[in-house]
Amino acid sequence: MKKFSITIAGGGSTFTPGIILMLLENIDKFPIKQIKLYDNDKARQQQIADACQVIIKEKAPEIDFLATVTPDIAFSDIDFVMAHIRVGKYAMREKDEKIPLKYGVVGQETCGPGGIAYGMRSIGGVLELVDYMEKYSPDAWMLNYSNPAAIVAEATRKLRPDAKILNICDMPIAIENLMTQILGLQSRKEMVISYYGLNHFGWWTAVRDRQGHDLLPKLKAHVKDHGYAVNFSEAGQHIDESWQATFKKVKDVYALDPDTLPNTYLKYYFYPQDEAQKADPNYTRANEVMDGREKHVFTECNRIAQCDSTQNSTLEIDEHASYIVDLARAIAYNTQERMLLIVENKGAIHNFDSSAMVEVPCIVGSEGPEPITQGAIPQFQKGLMEQQVSVEKLVVEAWEEGSYQKLWQALILSRTVPNARIAKQILDDLIEANQAYWPALS
Ligand code: NAD
Ligand code: G6P
Ligand code: MN
Repeated sequence: MKKFSITIAGGGSTFTPGIILMLLENIDKFPIKQIKLYDNDKARQQQIADACQVIIKEKAPEIDFLATVTPDIAFSDIDFVMAHIRVGKYAMREKDEKIPLKYGVVGQETCGPGGIAYGMRSIGGVLELVDYMEKYSPDAWMLNYSNPAAIVAEATRKLRPDAKILNICDMPIAIENLMTQILGLQSRKEMVISYYGLNHFGWWTAVRDRQGHDLLPKLKAHVKDHGYAVNFSEAGQHIDESWQATFKKVKDVYALDPDTLPNTYLKYYFYPQDEAQKADPNYTRANEVMDGREKHVFTECNRIAQCDSTQNSTLEIDEHASYIVDLARAIAYNTQERMLLIVENKGAIHNFDSSAMVEVPCIVGSEGPEPITQGAIPQFQKGLMEQQVSVEKLVVEAWEEGSYQKLWQALILSRTVPNARIAKQILDDLIEANQAYWPALS
């Protein structure tokens, strides 16, 4: 059986150890020859790598492992790139969140002005990874979950149309894990779903069991009163109180269209002022993550490296990241698995821009994804999506052309921004903060 070689780009990510533990857990389903970590911050990555070295030595010593900041070493001789970079790291996420809040506007990683700012940083970083992969391993596939995925996906569609890149998000997976709990099922895979939207901007239209029974009524009865909140807390990423509040808030998002079940992120577009008011402008999610997940992962990694042992380790397998293995296996073994991906619409949503990057179920095989048609969508969602996809397309155009005007237009098109004057103030602050990362705008 062929064993695969993988490069994790953004090796210094807080998610790297959990993903490596998950890969090792699934080694019989997806055999691995080599794992390489690649990052452009050597010192940050080294701390994670030293611990991963110990983990691999204990659990699967036959796997070759290295960490590098040199692209030709990182990208040569590989089958897959698993990409999760954060250009500007948490220091810039903090600014993305705090600058809009100064003006009473949503301060969020991927939504509104923060997401736009992050997009302007990420486009160049992800294109660079694509170019390295194509240069050194032209047959490889990139599984990308670097954010903001909507903008990154539009940029790669437009600027690297032939790239073998698959863009995927874990939010629907996390939500489907909660649905599994609500329904009293064992596994998310017992459900077959229909869904349409943009990334972090979509709706479930059907949830059925494998026999075809409609599970929506039971889900709706729960969501109507509790959102996606359940007593059980999903292990891993979405356990903090702020996430629990987000799951509860889905109740109010659902109220807008009781025919569908919404993605959690829609709250920022339906209740932007409430979300901005609730936030602490001096302590945002970036601070929570820096004081929480980042501190925990780095402290644990340093301890593991120092003890040269994983004994008593509190690092957890990122179970929910096993979708990455499902995706790699779909390509490697032509499994034809049905998965939600961010792909070019091309008619999958009949009454929507065919060049838009949409999130829809796809059948994934060794040639890549085949989107499953979702038919025509209602006026409400169509209107919202047309406005939001225009934000995403204008950001990519602004990046390409160095256009201040287009970025200002992108901001005013976001439902999170109340008017053009505030949009301009936020934009000018973001330009100042992102000098080291954005192309010059004029
Ligand atoms: P992190 O800051 O801990 O890690 C990101 C790493 O990327 C850092 O070590 C940084 O040095 C590195 N990096 C930045 N620019 C780079 C470049 N140009 N080349 C190589 N490396 C670079 O961030 P995190 O919180 O662990 O998240 C990582 C990424 O995964 C983010 O983009 C985040 O938004 C994304 N994410 C996506 C999903 C999803 O659903 N798609 C889920 C979780 C996280
Ligand atoms: C979800 C989304 C990701 C996003 C993450 C933020 O998983 O799908 O796209 O990056 O949440 O989580 P955090 O814990 O970093 O705030
Ligand atoms: Mn996501």
